[in-house]
Amino acid sequence: MSVKTHRVATIPGDGIGPEVISAGITVLQNLADTLGTFKLEFAHFDWSSETYKKTGKYIPDGGLDELKEHDAILFGSVGAPDVPDHISLWGLRLAICQPLQQYANVRPTRILRGTSSPLRNCSPGDLDWVIIRENSEGEYAGQGGRSHIGQPWEVATETAIFSRYAVERIMRFAFETARSRPRKMLTVVSKSNAQRNGMVLWDEVAAEVGKEFADVKLDKMLVDAMTARMALKPGSIDTVVASNLHADILSDLAAALAGSIGIAPTSNLDPTRKNPSMFEPIHGSAFDITGKGVANPVATFWTAAEMLNWLGETAAAQKLMQSVETVCEGGLLTGDLGGKATTKEVTDAVVREIQKLGAGH
Ligand SMILES: NC(=O)c1ccc[n+]([C@@H]2O[C@H](COP(=O)([O-])OP(=O)(O)OC[C@H]3O[C@@H](n4cnc5c(N)ncnc54)[C@H](O)[C@@H]3O)[C@@H](O)[C@H]2O)c1
Repeated sequence: MSVKTHRVATIPGDGIGPEVISAGITVLQNLADTLGTFKLEFAHFDWSSETYKKTGKYIPDGGLDELKEHDAILFGSVGAPDVPDHISLWGLRLAICQPLQQYANVRPTRILRGTSSPLRNCSPGDLDWVIIRENSEGEYAGQGGRSHIGQPWEVATETAIFSRYAVERIMRFAFETARSRPRKMLTVVSKSNAQRNGMVLWDEVAAEVGKEFADVKLDKMLVDAMTARMALKPGSIDTVVASNLHADILSDLAAALAGSIGIAPTSNLDPTRKNPSMFEPIHGSAFDITGKGVANPVATFWTAAEMLNWLGETAAAQKLMQSVETVCEGGLLTGDLGGKATTKEVTDAVVREIQKLGAGH
């Protein structure tokens, strides 16, 4: 029987990115070899702040066309202490997401077996959310400029863009996601009391699209109140849609409430599937632990599982998450989760679990 080969472009990037992506590749390769139901072909791209410092570019000419040849992209992190963050973010991550129209950023959160939430009385099952972030415009549209640079009267503008087209497509995606989950509830996060133009359009379009999804309960929440609800009533939340900036912040809070930023995944999806989608752990370069071999690889493993789901390998994705949770439950945890394990120890243990599953144990 011939099995499908998925071509995956890997961009480890900066900081702990190469450490966790290397762990992710080891686990994915083992999963593919053990199950034998699909194959993976990895192509490595060394685009990083080091490349930028040497060549002046994060992405070489023609690089995006090369990326488009792949079925998915596995990304580590971008950001280095000696490059301003707005240069690195716009030079690499946003320079991929925006042109490839990966307009839906999906951030699932739950408490994995064997890990615990800093919230009192919150156990696995009590916090199970999907946050959907508009990923193409909003506050990160890049509109604005600086005048009178260096003068005491220097001015900078940063204009958020909300287009009916982009709001409508992210709302439709969010309602469809909510519909696919048992509770069928979508919380639309807004700030239309203070931001009286873009956010009012956001709310109006949400209500319009909601009419097509009569089976999904539409719930509206101002972003400031949403932070309190996440901490105080986590069980009242299911699927959430928010603007680029709001969801960026809420999803980091979500990751922390679920135990650690070191476990949370993200998918940057082009739901039209015209372009490859990009999968990355939510965390950044983590300068404080770079090179120490202690980065939590679980976020990358969960990210890899999300990638497999998107590629149609749902059974493999389930097995991967089952292996990861068994390892966590066994108490092998990195420092961010209160343990002492290294990246390699966790990776090796997950590989052993995959092999046990593959052998039918
Ligand atoms: N998607 C991305 O590429 C991305 C995302 C966020 C930040 N960044 C960049 O990363 C750099 C550092 O940013 P930051 O410090 O705000 O955020 P960060 O996510 O890198 O680190 C925040 C804290 O979480 C810890 N942490 C993060 N990932 C971990 C893991 N896997 N295991 C254990 N601990 C982990 C770090 O040690 C640190 O204490 C900056 O240059 C920033 O721009 C990039």
